[in-house]
Amino acid sequence: MAATDLERFSNEEKRNLALGGHVGFDSLPDQLVSKSVTQGFSFNILCVGETGIGKSTLMNTLFNTTFETEEASHYESAVRLRPRTYDLQESNVHLKLTIVDAVGFGDQINKDESYRPIVEYIDTQFENYLQEELKIRRSLFNYHDTRIHVCLYFITPTGHSLKSLDLVTMKKLDSKVNIIPIIAKADTISKSELHKFKIKIMSELVSNGVQIYQFPTDDEAVAEINSVMNAHLPFAVVGSTEEVKVGNKLVRARQYPWGVVQVENESHCDFVKLREMLIRVNMEDLREQTHTRHYELYRRCKLEEMGFKDTDPDSQPFSLQETYETKRKEFLGELQRKEEEMRQMFVNKVKETEAELKEKERELHEKFEHLKRIHQEEKRKVEEKRRELEEEMNAFNRRKVAVETLQSQSLQATSQQPLKKDKDKKNFFSLPSACSITSGRHVT
Ligand code: GTP
Ligand code: MG
Repeated sequence: MAATDLERFSNEEKRNLALGGHVGFDSLPDQLVSKSVTQGFSFNILCVGETGIGKSTLMNTLFNTTFETEEASHYESAVRLRPRTYDLQESNVHLKLTIVDAVGFGDQINKDESYRPIVEYIDTQFENYLQEELKIRRSLFNYHDTRIHVCLYFITPTGHSLKSLDLVTMKKLDSKVNIIPIIAKADTISKSELHKFKIKIMSELVSNGVQIYQFPTDDEAVAEINSVMNAHLPFAVVGSTEEVKVGNKLVRARQYPWGVVQVENESHCDFVKLREMLIRVNMEDLREQTHTRHYELYRRCKLEEMGFKDTDPDSQPFSLQETYETKRKEFLGELQRKEEEMRQMFVNKVKETEAELKEKERELHEKFEHLKRIHQEEKRKVEEKRRELEEEMNAFNRRKVAVETLQSQSLQATSQQPLKKDKDKKNFFSLPSACSITSGRHVT
């Protein structure tokens, strides 16, 4: 519809017409109820409180059944969230109830980060829902909504004041979930102390700016009861699955040597008030607040983070297509910049390596030249030595030949003059001088 059409439409006077007879659209609310009943409901409760404070007992008491009653250990190294889902039915209404326990809460020596896993869990459920909403093929109709609708914050009944861990955790959670603070094990604290304790808790919450869930007073049907109940916060509850005979009736209670604390007796504790407010009167409001307030806030921040806005810088209505294009351009620009950066880095690296290799090559070449010179010198020396040895060998051989010649001559002479043996022998011994002369002449 064009803008001018819209203007004309909104300026047109709305006319009230009387119907001539029964048309039937007054059955619309019934149709809605019937559809919702067929579809079923989901409700998710987060229980935050120290180990053993009575979380499981209270859940069992609230829904009048026995869920898992596994005890948590006191030695968890960090807080961990444990969700458990149950299918419940009352009359023809189906309820998918998820109870999430913050296991190990308050058990660590350093509690600075105790709130973090809880916040992360809540955000993850919002994120899952947002992802489902953003899908092209959405199936929100049969989507199992795991967003936390209410956080029951169990306060230890010290009678003094809230612990800093309680204040920090509630402060971190108050913009993400509907918090209903409850004083656990209220049977362990006297009536007058409980009254003062409640006032103290509320004043501490106010002075620390912690926003707890207020039962709505805008619907006339429940405005009165809700405003009365708001004044009773935080509820002081007692849980028990044990049944005790009081008069001639079996009631859920805790039995002590000095008497019986009846869970559903309003003068004993606020359990009934909590059940009324949480389940019978405000369950739908808690679901609605989760969707319209807490999830909406998460969604808005997330979409703004992603760059989506309701109006562009010129205050023109937001266009998804334009935002997408701008984001795409930004992304591609960034990608290109990164690519160029990496390419430049690669080139520099290659240059550096090339220079290093060249330097190494030069060093090797120098080493080679040096070794070559040493080798040549060695070779020259060996050659010289070889020549000297050859000369010595030649001289030796010549001397050997001369001696042999001389020997053969003297042998010949001996064989020719056998009778003059003794004389020749004498001559032979005087030969060396002659021989040396002969050999000396021969050498020169
Ligand atoms: P973890 O899951 O182990 O952290 O414990 P929890 O917080 O679920 O506590 P659980 O319900 O298991 O109760 C622990 C003990 O406290 C049990 O012995 C309960 O009987 C007792 N208990 C529960 N509710 C109350 C209560 O309202 N008053 C008193 N006096 N004791 C309670
Ligand atoms: Mg438990």
